[in-house]
Amino acid sequence: MQDTHAWSGRFSEPVSELVKKYTASVGFDCRLAPFDIEGSLAHAAMLARAGVLSDEDLAAIRRGMAEILDDIRAGRFAWSLDLEDVHMNIERCLTDKIGDAGKRLHTGRSRNDQVATDIRLWLRAQIDVLGVLVGELQSSLLDLAERHADTVMPGFTHLQVAQPVTFGHHMLAYVEMLARDAERLVDVRKRVNRLPLGAAALAGTTYPIDRHYTAELLGFDDVCHNSLDAVSDRDFAIEFCAAASLVMTHLSRLSEELVLWMSPRVGFIDIADRFCTGSSIMPQKKNPDVPELVRGKSGRVSGHLVGLLMLMKSQPLAYNKDNQEDKEPLFDTVDTLIDTLRIYADMMRGVTVKPEAMRGAVLQGFATATDLADYLVKKGLPFRDSHEVVARAVRHAEQQGVDLADLPLAVLQSFSALVAEDVYTVLTPEGSLAERDHVGGTAPNQVRAQIARWRGVLGK
Ligand code: ARG
Repeated sequence: MQDTHAWSGRFSEPVSELVKKYTASVGFDCRLAPFDIEGSLAHAAMLARAGVLSDEDLAAIRRGMAEILDDIRAGRFAWSLDLEDVHMNIERCLTDKIGDAGKRLHTGRSRNDQVATDIRLWLRAQIDVLGVLVGELQSSLLDLAERHADTVMPGFTHLQVAQPVTFGHHMLAYVEMLARDAERLVDVRKRVNRLPLGAAALAGTTYPIDRHYTAELLGFDDVCHNSLDAVSDRDFAIEFCAAASLVMTHLSRLSEELVLWMSPRVGFIDIADRFCTGSSIMPQKKNPDVPELVRGKSGRVSGHLVGLLMLMKSQPLAYNKDNQEDKEPLFDTVDTLIDTLRIYADMMRGVTVKPEAMRGAVLQGFATATDLADYLVKKGLPFRDSHEVVARAVRHAEQQGVDLADLPLAVLQSFSALVAEDVYTVLTPEGSLAERDHVGGTAPNQVRAQIARWRGVLGK
């Protein structure tokens, strides 16, 4: 294989070794190869249909590309830094295999519309994988929620015990977040799924191309309607990274909770050993490394989002080499997300809940104080007065070192004559939960209804 550039006719000396390394992207964009070939085959088919390529050339291109794809898949393809990127590596190899037909492939296109097409094809496939993985994590959370639809835990605000909720309800909050994440991915996909090919370098081409036909062959919903925009903007990658950052942000929040809950000081859960590691010095340690890493990697993914925004923000129309820098952050975002979602679905199946510890924390936190206030309101006391009465009762219970439910009836009545024997049903955590019986509330039957709804939506 000769290593002269496609443009060597224009230059009087070869690029320096350092510049070659600096400008080459083949080290990372080689992973676009199957999509580059898919795009080239559609482009060639369109050219043949338009009479720009002969049927023999098209057949040769198809044959050559099939061999190249086999070689790449088998790890036999010799990538060359001298050929700069995935596009020129494949094109040169094709020409080596089939001669002039290979040289005709690039008719009516440029690497600018080619690479924009490749990234969109690649990202579309990744979004589809991610959609499935988000669904699998949701289903893992639903299983956990179902097992703990009745398990009482303290709900927190400001990380202070607030009101009882069920652990199932808590898990369902993340199912909701992930559902919005999945919706966002579906929405981004619509804008990813448009064809840049045909924009050529920036202004379109003089050949009688049929962009809608190419779009149809590649499964794109539409073509990009402005050639300058088609080759230059990477907003679809940026919004994908924004959606990805939100997935990671949600998982980072859950990770923070898992870490807290697993701390011996809290002791709400245990995480299966296979997701934890020990310490090289402290023999007693079992560390929740996976959630900690997810929390850390969320920063890395948000960093990629900001990186791509910065990459784009000062670029004049149309294509600039800056855009070659879009790939590594995008690839790393997808890789991080795929690994994180997979490991998370598995890890949540390895979470053991400790209901006694959760219930104990509810009882220590006067979590049913609001229930007592609501109870008095229902007996006719205005809410502000009731709040005051309960605050005094809580202060008394705290001084006695007992929960509200442990105060004798006579004592409770000393704070308000409206208190009757039935007060104890609302003062227990279970009574408190059962009262919150409306759509979106934490009553166990509502939690079960939501689980059933989600199972229907997800089909699992
Ligand atoms: N490797 C390049 C990229 O990733 C392909 C497009 C190059 N186009 C050009 N005019 N230099 O963006």
